[in-house]
Amino acid sequence: MVKADLIIKNISELLTLDETINADPDLGIIYDGAIASYRGTIVFIGDVKELAGSVDKDEECMVVDANGSVVMPGFVDAHTHLIFDGDRSDELPMKLKGMSYKSIADSGGGIRKTVIHTRKAPLNKLINIGKERLDAMEMAGVTSTEIKTGYGLTTKSELKLIDAADTVRKNFLKNIEITFLGAHAVPSDIRKEDYIDVMKKEMIPEISKKKNVKFIDVFCEEGFFNYDESKEILEYGKKYNMIPKIHADEFSDGNGALLAAQVKAVSADHLLKSSGHGLEEMKKAGVIPVLLPGTILTTFIEVKPNIDLMRTLKMDIAISSDYNPNCTIINPWLLMWLSVYRLKLTLEEAIKGMTINSAKAIAMDKKVGSLKVGKKANLIITDVNSHIHLFSDITATHTKNVIISRI
Ligand code: NIG
Ligand code: FE
Repeated sequence: MVKADLIIKNISELLTLDETINADPDLGIIYDGAIASYRGTIVFIGDVKELAGSVDKDEECMVVDANGSVVMPGFVDAHTHLIFDGDRSDELPMKLKGMSYKSIADSGGGIRKTVIHTRKAPLNKLINIGKERLDAMEMAGVTSTEIKTGYGLTTKSELKLIDAADTVRKNFLKNIEITFLGAHAVPSDIRKEDYIDVMKKEMIPEISKKKNVKFIDVFCEEGFFNYDESKEILEYGKKYNMIPKIHADEFSDGNGALLAAQVKAVSADHLLKSSGHGLEEMKKAGVIPVLLPGTILTTFIEVKPNIDLMRTLKMDIAISSDYNPNCTIINPWLLMWLSVYRLKLTLEEAIKGMTINSAKAIAMDKKVGSLKVGKKANLIITDVNSHIHLFSDITATHTKNVIISRI
């Protein structure tokens, strides 16, 4: 018998996402299931009939009736630029006129515009911005996330963004990983070679002392950082114990996928123009592909990632938001919907993409992303009784209740 302080029963489909459940390796569904946790950790998961014989109720145990609905793991968002100040809504008419992401950036918009506003913002304002956006994510069912820097681009203002993200993590949601993205763009007042030098001599050494920054990322793209520059920065970050991630091949094939494999990145994200060879190398090196359907939509990109090849290679496809001033979609239900209706992922691929596979993309899969004894009791009680119905209403957010372990 195990002790429990939370029990959820009357679950029609318990989507465990446990890959070891042979009867249903995709979603690991337990029908008429129950789940119990103690101090935020799952202690029982299985058939409701086994519950009484396995679990001892703690004095203050809360018993939740799921009313015959689907219960699933909380969503994991493995790619966000969550904390920035300012607004770039004025870019929408430009996009509609046919201006490209790069030409908008070159005409005074884009990342550098957000940098101007974010540098000016005091720490407290950035903490509040982060908290507000995180609240919206949690309400929709996101229970773990990644947050990138990249709108400071000086040592001081990158550290300010890290402090903001870390404060949000300490006070509001433990399951946050922080990524240093100094190589997001080159600031307007410095040559690229000199900026890369500053990153290597000052930013990376300073930031690595913080101990709370797990990943290093690069925008590997024509007009931003090319293959060689990206490699130099990521290799340098590795010396300081940061794990590489990469914005790869979004608008052009810059060999970003190949680079991700070479530096053994945890993930490579976007991948719209990646070569077959790049994807094959990623698979061999165990790099997780992260698709960002919100960005494809808001940037009016017609190209699609090579999902057929990813399937053939049996890659663990992840889906994330890429929340940023150019793509303000925070709702994971909409992202899953776009994955199915725009990218033609299967329902199972979409659900795995926003749970266990996105957990893999931020190396959090030992703790979250699926429902198993020993993992965090982070889960969503939905408002439908079969997982197929999670996709039938485009405008719906199917989160009825979110349970988050904050321990
Ligand atoms: O992933 N590509 C670089 N970063 C973001 C966009 C950031 C921005 O436009 O502010 C992305 O799409
Ligand atoms: Fe991004």
